[in-house]
Amino acid sequence: MASATEQPQQEIHAENKNIPSDDPSRSKLDGGFTMPETNTFGQTFRDYNAESERRKSVEEFYRNQHINQTFDYVKKMREQYGKLNRTEMSIWECCELLNEFVDESDPDLDEPQIEHLLQTAEAIRKDHPNEDWLHLTGLIHDLGKVLLHPSFGALPQWAVVGDTFPVGCAFDDSNVHYKYFKDNPDYNNSMYNTKNGVYSPGCGLNNVVMSWGHDDYMYLVAKENMTTLPSAALFIIRYHSFYPLHRSGAYTHLMNEEDVENMKWLHIFNKYDLYSKSKVRIDVEKVKPYYLSLIKKYFPAKLKW
Ligand SMILES: [Fe+2]
Ligand SMILES: [Fe+2]
Repeated sequence: MASATEQPQQEIHAENKNIPSDDPSRSKLDGGFTMPETNTFGQTFRDYNAESERRKSVEEFYRNQHINQTFDYVKKMREQYGKLNRTEMSIWECCELLNEFVDESDPDLDEPQIEHLLQTAEAIRKDHPNEDWLHLTGLIHDLGKVLLHPSFGALPQWAVVGDTFPVGCAFDDSNVHYKYFKDNPDYNNSMYNTKNGVYSPGCGLNNVVMSWGHDDYMYLVAKENMTTLPSAALFIIRYHSFYPLHRSGAYTHLMNEEDVENMKWLHIFNKYDLYSKSKVRIDVEKVKPYYLSLIKKYFPAKLKW
């Protein structure tokens, strides 16, 4: 089994050009859930020809991410994007917007992004038929990737995707490509480079500032638009790329009891990410009414973004 710190991680998968998809070793890491062995082309996941090229671009991605995601940067982005003054649209409209421009060159996908979102949701629905909130969470958890869109400022990849981690305290060495944090200005700032940094033990993840990306943005959108989704759904949306926590068990000293409860759902949820890129085709028009009914149940008709 490959070391977690050397393998590119899950969430730069689907969104990128040269950046890889899911770790082939993931199926062994994900516990009881049976992962598909092949992608839509019948190849193993992330079967790139230029393996070394791929590695290089992943490493370059994390170098940029680790250097640029500082406490000040994240604060600034949360404030700016937290205003939600860019546009108004429904959840479904956002799915369609994402459909237009993300993932054209993901080697594991030959279908529209909207099918990818629905595959995640439908896989969850099959195994957990009574948790309708979790089905909807599957559909929407990646919608924050609209940050890549020109109308959202066309943020660079390192500010949208990739594994996430807390800022304002020491970077844990379980973070992938940890070495590049040494060039992050916070690395040598004594306010931010101790185990607890600006936080206190057990303060709860809600009080911890996470690196900026699609997870935290979608969390802000859902919360500020007064979703009635349960707290576990918001937790999943906000921390689904927080691999140092849910894969390596780092940063648990910052969690509170509610976080511990919500982690159970996040672990369940994470099993479905790879599956969402399998061969299972979804008839969008057939399942759309069901998801529109869930959107209506948990969100206003139009959301501020
Ligand atoms: Fe994601
Ligand atoms: Fe995802």
